[in-house]
Amino acid sequence: MRFPDGFLWGAATAAYQIEGAVSEDGRGPSIWDTFSHTPGAVLRGDTGDIACDHYHRWPADLDLLSSLGVNSYRFSVAWPRVLPTGDGDVNIKGLDFYDRLTDGLLERGITPMVTLYHWDLPQGLQDRGGWASRDTAFRFADYVQVVHQRLADRVPYWLTLNEPYCSAFVGHLDGTHAPGLRDERVAVTALHHLLLGHGLAVQALRAGGVTGQVGITCNLTSVRAASTDPADEEAARRLDLHENRMFLDPLFRGEYPLDAVAQYGDLDFVRDDDLAVISAPLDYFGINYYERHAVRASPADPVRGWERVPPAEPTLTGIGVDPRGLREILERVHRDYTSLPLVVTETGLALHDYVGPDGEVADDERIAFFDGHVRAAHEALANGVPLFGFFPWSFLDNFEWASGYGVRYGLYYVDYATQERRPKRSAAWYQQLIRANGAAR
Ligand code: BGC
Ligand code: BGC
Repeated sequence: MRFPDGFLWGAATAAYQIEGAVSEDGRGPSIWDTFSHTPGAVLRGDTGDIACDHYHRWPADLDLLSSLGVNSYRFSVAWPRVLPTGDGDVNIKGLDFYDRLTDGLLERGITPMVTLYHWDLPQGLQDRGGWASRDTAFRFADYVQVVHQRLADRVPYWLTLNEPYCSAFVGHLDGTHAPGLRDERVAVTALHHLLLGHGLAVQALRAGGVTGQVGITCNLTSVRAASTDPADEEAARRLDLHENRMFLDPLFRGEYPLDAVAQYGDLDFVRDDDLAVISAPLDYFGINYYERHAVRASPADPVRGWERVPPAEPTLTGIGVDPRGLREILERVHRDYTSLPLVVTETGLALHDYVGPDGEVADDERIAFFDGHVRAAHEALANGVPLFGFFPWSFLDNFEWASGYGVRYGLYYVDYATQERRPKRSAAWYQQLIRANGAAR
């Protein structure tokens, strides 16, 4: 097994999960500061106030990336560092941070891939309605223009949004992510405004004389019916709508699926031309993959109509590991939606890693996980999918949203009390894989 020359072997992070320094150098509060400080919202009351202290430790962290051997690094820019209230005056010190980080990567021969929104909406905009308000989409495009002006000469890969599914549905329907709302109507409205914001951001990037490639990252799942019972097949169709087609259809076909109205009600927040903006051509498409699941009809939940069949061997986060799903998704997106180059912008496994008495972090399950998913990605490639990169989640253990510091995803172990970083066994494994460009295993 070999990957094409120039294949991007990366690692991924997000601003709020690693940076800390939440009130330094003029950063404003985001919805995740508010949410994590809300009693009961996050495990043990953990917050991102300090996180991995990456805001101060970034040079050493970039050195770790160098020793890992990655040729690319995916990080996100925190909107509230750049525009502390969401719009208004630009905070130059915030931009300076990402400027230094970008230069630091380039000096080390590591290609930056920049996510412009990884869930940390400025609280000032939430106070004016957040993503449920149409105006937020326009404010996002303004912010993107500011970041782009500063970094466009050095960033070859842009991603507008990370996982609009999570922003919309986990944040506004499940209520377990910021802003913590539980209202399907609001969630679907937010979904549309997120996608509109994406489209407007693409326009802003293109208008700014972009030198880099423009894309978006969606988390997609591989869904199948638990049986051939028509009720289970209907449940699978609905869950596929909710998790996949509500994003892929508007982005690549310029329309919401026909069954969306039956599921969510009239989409009367969609205005003329919005879908043309949302479906403007991209240069590449990012996929985050965590889950393949079976679904069955749920008479107990007639509104949604589905329930996921619990996996036989659930991970700490309750999902089942199945690398086949990654290949299925890559092949489906390529076959049914777009011939664009694709990149796996995230996949990873949550464990309760710890440093053993021998000083090692023996995350053999994570190695098996990545091995399986790299093989699945290679199969997709062999079947004609134009895959150009693979980014494990995550470079470092970090603030895992509602799970706080309670689970770990990193290739590097972080001792949060001392901020010491330590390579896990998976880091050594990944280093070898990169050196061999996938071969020699
Ligand atoms: C304006 C935005 C405004 C939006 C509201 C646009 O035409 O440029 O500033 O937020 O309309 O729908
Ligand atoms: C997100 C990451 C998150 C990871 C693991 C993805 O949904 O983009 O921020 O840490 O999953 O849960």
